[in-house]
Amino acid sequence: MPGAVENTASPASSDTGRSIGEQRPLRVGILGCGHVGAALVALLQRDAAHLGGRTGLELEIARVAVRNLSAERSVELPPSVLTRDSESLVTADDVDIVVEAMGGIEPARHLTTAALGAGKPVVTANKELIANVGEELFALAEDHGVDLAFEAAVAGGIPLIGVLRHSLIGERITRVMGIVNGTTNFILTRMTEHGADYAEVLGEAQRLGYAEADPTADVEGSDAGAKAAILAMTAFGAKVVAGDVHQEGISRIGRRDIVAAARMGHVIKLLAVAERQNGEIAVRVHPAMVPLDHPLASVRDAFNAVFLEGEAVGDVMLYGRGAGGFPTAGAMLGDLIRVAQNLRRGVCDSFGPLCAARLRPIDETFTAYHLQFDVADAPGVLAAVSGAFGQHGVSIRSVEQTTRGGATDDVAHLEFITHRAREADVAATLRDVRELSVVRRVGNAIRVIGE
Ligand code: HSE
Repeated sequence: MPGAVENTASPASSDTGRSIGEQRPLRVGILGCGHVGAALVALLQRDAAHLGGRTGLELEIARVAVRNLSAERSVELPPSVLTRDSESLVTADDVDIVVEAMGGIEPARHLTTAALGAGKPVVTANKELIANVGEELFALAEDHGVDLAFEAAVAGGIPLIGVLRHSLIGERITRVMGIVNGTTNFILTRMTEHGADYAEVLGEAQRLGYAEADPTADVEGSDAGAKAAILAMTAFGAKVVAGDVHQEGISRIGRRDIVAAARMGHVIKLLAVAERQNGEIAVRVHPAMVPLDHPLASVRDAFNAVFLEGEAVGDVMLYGRGAGGFPTAGAMLGDLIRVAQNLRRGVCDSFGPLCAARLRPIDETFTAYHLQFDVADAPGVLAAVSGAFGQHGVSIRSVEQTTRGGATDDVAHLEFITHRAREADVAATLRDVRELSVVRRVGNAIRVIGE
């Protein structure tokens, strides 16, 4: 039903007609033993007795598929458990539940497909997989009456998907807005608090192991974009894939933007936003100026947080570590236990059908903007610049002429904050301002939250 975007993701457990009795351990097959896979192995080994006591479950690591059998690992596993044969693992009789900790779309997609097809529930931390081909995998899981759990795919250790799929399933969520990329939050925090330049902090983030050697996915917004798609899909029960998400990263953010935000009592954050309005969904990732009194403004360093707005519940914020071996493995362990309990009872959590939602193009979204220009300091210039705003129906909330930034004797620095305006109208205003001969420089246009 195009246009319908209620949350149809159902928490109802459906009877699968297959239950595994209490008499034997449940056997887990893990695909991948990198950072996250090894942390999960460590938790399962360390906490077996505790987990048994709390849940009545005995979880046994049956097989772990790795690329290199002799690679050094942080966990010890008997040689009989390690295998290079991931294809056999996903259909093996001695594996009851498959954990996918490989990342990337292939071979994770075909291995997950094979596992679900063989009637084995899957726990995954793979955002690319869920954000790109989640719909086909949920349908397959449904057909085979098994779980596909993905708590760790968004914001690592923060219990978020379970909150949306279970605790808030009856809620009409109107907006999900979050800081879901730790690398960029670390960079922006350092730029804000230490006055450092983007390039300088990126180097530091790479030395500290936050940022990859190729930081593109983090700094240009595609990592957050995949997470935004999953959040939209889960919160609204709608078909949203990574390619539907408008993405802008932080690589263009400079000192001037950070200083301008601070002067307004704001900080710049990279936000993932999914909102529902009049039967449409808008999903985007972009830097934004966030007022200091908004809870997301206080999320510093590599931490993540997601702010949910629901019609009945009001505002909810979830905060924690969005990456790292143990936080991510902790989230996977929670999924694993729930999936194992379902298997024992012969039920599974249905994700429900995803609606074909109308996706609002970025041009049609509305936000307030901070815009800055260096202009000739001469009569009529302010009128010419502000005239362009009026021409396109963009209403100015405040304007300030300062001697900061690029200001010199004959160059003035102008900073505008608009009321909420249509994206396409702001873009048209900027095009016109750029063409004015009195304009020396057009700075970044940055959205402002809370206006
Ligand atoms: N690179 C991501 C981050 C973690 O910096 O938050 C994995 O999604």
